[in-house]
Amino acid sequence: MAESIAVLDYGGQYVQNIARAFREMAIPAHILSPGCSLSDLPKVRGIVLSGGPYSVYRAGSPSVDGSILDSGVPVLGLCYGHQLIAEFFGGVVHGGKVGEYGFAEIRIEAGNPLFDGVDGPQIVWMSHGDQVAELPDGFISLAWTPGCPNAAICHRQRPIYGLQFHPEVSHTPNGWTMLRNFAREICGLQIGSWDPESYLDERVEWIRETVGDRKALVAVSGGVDSTVVATLARRALGDQLLTVHVDHGLMREDESSWVLSKLAEIGLETELCEESDLFLEELRGVGEGDAKRKKIGELFIETFQDVADANDIDILIQGTIAPDSIESSRGMASGRDGSDHGGMIKLHHNVGGLPDEMWIEVLEPIKDLFKYQVRMLGRALGVPADLLERQPFPGPGLAVRISGPVTPTRLEVVRGATVLVEEGLREYDPDQFLVYAIDDGGTEHPVAESLTERILGGGIDVEARIHDDIAVGVKGDERQLGRIISLSVSRGGEACWDSYGWLDLLRLQSAITGEIPDACRVVATLAASDSDGSGAVVRAVETRDFMTAMPCRLPFTRLYILGEQLTSLPGISSAYYEITTKPSATIELE
Ligand code: XMP
Repeated sequence: MAESIAVLDYGGQYVQNIARAFREMAIPAHILSPGCSLSDLPKVRGIVLSGGPYSVYRAGSPSVDGSILDSGVPVLGLCYGHQLIAEFFGGVVHGGKVGEYGFAEIRIEAGNPLFDGVDGPQIVWMSHGDQVAELPDGFISLAWTPGCPNAAICHRQRPIYGLQFHPEVSHTPNGWTMLRNFAREICGLQIGSWDPESYLDERVEWIRETVGDRKALVAVSGGVDSTVVATLARRALGDQLLTVHVDHGLMREDESSWVLSKLAEIGLETELCEESDLFLEELRGVGEGDAKRKKIGELFIETFQDVADANDIDILIQGTIAPDSIESSRGMASGRDGSDHGGMIKLHHNVGGLPDEMWIEVLEPIKDLFKYQVRMLGRALGVPADLLERQPFPGPGLAVRISGPVTPTRLEVVRGATVLVEEGLREYDPDQFLVYAIDDGGTEHPVAESLTERILGGGIDVEARIHDDIAVGVKGDERQLGRIISLSVSRGGEACWDSYGWLDLLRLQSAITGEIPDACRVVATLAASDSDGSGAVVRAVETRDFMTAMPCRLPFTRLYILGEQLTSLPGISSAYYEITTKPSATIELE
């Protein structure tokens, strides 16, 4: 067995990101249950304690076996893992005055091998309410933010480190350098790189062996994951594979016909299942996000069952990828059935939306990959760029971009707005961009107003409203069904978002989501009309793996024009641009 790193899974969202970071360095990384002890970890050269949605000072929170911390094997605790280390050695952990979610600015002390080449001021990604308030004996602090004095700690003599922030996510720009330093300088491991070609060969072999001479079904939405998995399965199975595309009536304008003709061009002749009436009828009156996803998941499965029965098929191949499972809280440590801990963020329709008892065997050949790795695999398979570079579109389609129940009117509003937004923002090439519809009511929020004045300075008129809609957010590894705060800022009667630097806006959203407990999203008002209708929120993000995201820095002068265009559409009364990072928001509304 090769020397490896063990990642103990405390149920955090980024457990897979940690393992992937090491696997991309060609270091085997095993995700294990936190209950394990050193004797369960043969050949392990380093141990990472992941984040998790717990507080170390609450009864029943998972702990760490003392043999691990006393072993002399290097240990790196991240977020909850960092707090566990501090508590184990006698430090004090408690809730901070304000939370830090997403973007944060930190200062790192020079001279420690963990931070080789990355000391001084750094941007990092945080997601915590608790923090290490008092260091244990024998430890020193290596980094701090204004609200968090012990953001990185290490033992004076032993290779034991704790980081309050998340080096494993791509929005901590130098985070992987820190993990590489941990693996190479502290654990003494050799570093290499991930090879999509050999992964492809191994997966083709696995599919062939698992399916044998049976027949399989794969459903292709035309998105990156399902297209790549279908191409992979076709390579493995040839004519033993049937591909279908379900039009559930929640696609974008003309999307199904585009997808079918594109798939045909690459040799994936695909059967169309036209089920719009069924889906829209069954979704009538279903208002809550997870209830919509679950209903859509069930309807997909019913549709597949009909196709499978008619074609004598008993295997369903799905393009589930790592974030789908992570966010649906199907923990990796305990396999398919899910871990008994871990914060559920949203039930992705293809994971949490599946019925408990499945009538068909489900194969998920790319479930350990992240989107950019799926794209690398797709390139190795020869999938053309116009399919591979498509921005993601969720399986439940426009349903999760509508606050409350899906009605034909709201669907048309969002569909029309999507055309405008995709045309208007394509030139900026965001990793994902979309528009969602919210109710355009809400009440004034004086605390958000004064926070805005504090961060942006005086001489402006500020109006803040908290909306009634429920949006999905994520704070400290836990889902938050939170609220949206909209802000209008003007000078002399003119909107003046364009006069601020991007860092000001990032600080503004951090302050609002950190200090107002029920707020998980902040949106900047672009335009408003006197008509009745929905609010249209434009969201454009930069993201590598869709686990964390940064709002794109688009010119407000362009966004104001888009806002005017949106509010001139029937059914839209206001337009906004979302400026929240993930966390505390997610990318989609629900
Ligand atoms: P969130 O909103 O969780 O989105 O930050 C992360 C990525 O996943 C996509 N997404 C989904 N994809 N079924 C899917 O197939 C779903 O239920 C679903 N929910 C979100 C989202 O578009 C983004 O790319």
